[in-house]
Amino acid sequence: MPPPSPATKEAPPRVVNQLTDLQQAVAQARQAGRKLGLVPTMGALHEGHLSLVRRAAAECEATLVTIFVNPTQFGPQEDFSQYPRTLEADLQALSEVGAGLVYNPSRESLYPAGFSTYVDPPHVALRWEGEHRPQHFRGVTTIVLKLFLLAQADVAFFGQKDYQQACVIARMVEDLNVPIRVCVCPTVREPDGLALSSRNRYLNPEQRCRAQGLWNSLRAACQCVERGERDAAAILGQMREVLFENGISRIDYVALVDPQTLEPVARIDQPTQALVAAWVDQTRLIDNLRLEPRNPTGRKL
Ligand code: PAF
Repeated sequence: MPPPSPATKEAPPRVVNQLTDLQQAVAQARQAGRKLGLVPTMGALHEGHLSLVRRAAAECEATLVTIFVNPTQFGPQEDFSQYPRTLEADLQALSEVGAGLVYNPSRESLYPAGFSTYVDPPHVALRWEGEHRPQHFRGVTTIVLKLFLLAQADVAFFGQKDYQQACVIARMVEDLNVPIRVCVCPTVREPDGLALSSRNRYLNPEQRCRAQGLWNSLRAACQCVERGERDAAAILGQMREVLFENGISRIDYVALVDPQTLEPVARIDQPTQALVAAWVDQTRLIDNLRLEPRNPTGRKL
């Protein structure tokens, strides 16, 4: 893997497709004692991904980005075949943010004929996305563990936008003693609050406008808590109302959960994660926000 230098930061990354080339590059980086950062992606890169790569490049001496649309995390009726594949634009964007190496494998090299071993995801995967996308997290834990084993990185970077995914991966790393640190980085948003997502590309201008409803519902939850509302049912009702007002009627879930266990809470007496998953016509979007109740003196509880 090329050593980092001001020049490398602006140079196109080296792209490898073969497992053996990846393993060789990783071995070189490890021999040279470089701290290695891994940013797993499915491509269709946006500012959210690029913020992860920048963070990796700032914290690590070598950065590996993987681009692989992982078939096992998509359900049979989901958008695997439609998922945007924009390799050329992705590489161009990566050349500007300091990614030294890109691993872009074929499906066959990661899932060869006869592949049949999967990682059973932890308990935190059961609710929410787990309920609405059966097998999704099994596909995520399987591919992420494979990438962790291949990359042997010191740190892996994930976005907070996929909050449950980040919890699932952190738990898997802990449970299976995987020698890697998981770093979860803030969600990047459009000026109107919409969380960046590769799936935003599916939205036409009118749908894009309605998609803001997810952020509006989270903001409404935050405002309820700021006004002193502590009853989860009342806040969830408010979140649903805001989604409807924004023209979003197909809601997979709105939830107020313990940030670690993702179990629902009845009262917001502690920091709580608000989660939302909803459809704008054919496009499914998710988002989340931490709610921090304060006591009467204004201190966070
Ligand atoms: O968040 C994603 O893009 C994917 O779920 C991941 C982590 C790259 C695994 O395919």
